[in-house]
Amino acid sequence: MERTPLVAGNWKMFKTRAEAADYCSALLPLVDELDEVDIAICPPYTALDIVAERIGDAGIGVWGQNVHDAPEGAFTGEISCAMLIDAGATGVLLGHSERRALFGETDEALARKLAAALAGGLEPVLCIGESEAERDGGETERRLSTQLDGAMTALSGSQVLQVTIAYEPVWAIGTGRSATPEIAQETHAFIRGAIASRHGEECAAAIRILYGGSVKPDNAAALLGQPDVDGALVGGASLDPQGFAAIARAAG
Ligand code: PGA
Repeated sequence: MERTPLVAGNWKMFKTRAEAADYCSALLPLVDELDEVDIAICPPYTALDIVAERIGDAGIGVWGQNVHDAPEGAFTGEISCAMLIDAGATGVLLGHSERRALFGETDEALARKLAAALAGGLEPVLCIGESEAERDGGETERRLSTQLDGAMTALSGSQVLQVTIAYEPVWAIGTGRSATPEIAQETHAFIRGAIASRHGEECAAAIRILYGGSVKPDNAAALLGQPDVDGALVGGASLDPQGFAAIARAAG
């Protein structure tokens, strides 16, 4: 099964609205011809509308970095699916390791968020990944299985098909130490196998599994060249439109 590569830039808590507008102007001509690669940007909430206005028409996805599962309510500081969509978002990151580690996000909460995103019409991107201690201790597969099961067990086959998985080893995020292409391939193949055993071969063959963690222009081609690596979730290197476009080109 042909899976269209997908490269997404996670800006985290970077860029004002003016900086976001400049970025979009710079990025558009660089990725204009890249028809065979899907591209998405995850700006901070305050820049969602600007990014959607500037590049949404070019078919570039605009994703929130988090969402609350309730439609509205007394949840200070949170944002709903409908609000993200209202601001122009087409998708949402769920369970980024920074959300899990710094803001106490649990697999139970992620199961609710995933259901809310699917029901609300946002493309969900579920982030999973092991810590360095878990990898060193031979716990990687158990950890990834727990994260997949915790968030996805209740989903139907047709819902699973709408989910993108981002495999992001915690030890590779923001460290400059990406997984080797061999480790990425081996782990992505494990994740695809885990999805096949739970949701069937058809789902597993169709679902996109992105790699994230210190993806840069100089290592992108080797990582993205692996058969089970269907794209990249890029943090630091996505803040520069030239670097991000170079990574997107490596996926094509
Ligand atoms: P990084 O971040 O590319 O800066 O390592 C990846 C991520 O957090 O999604």
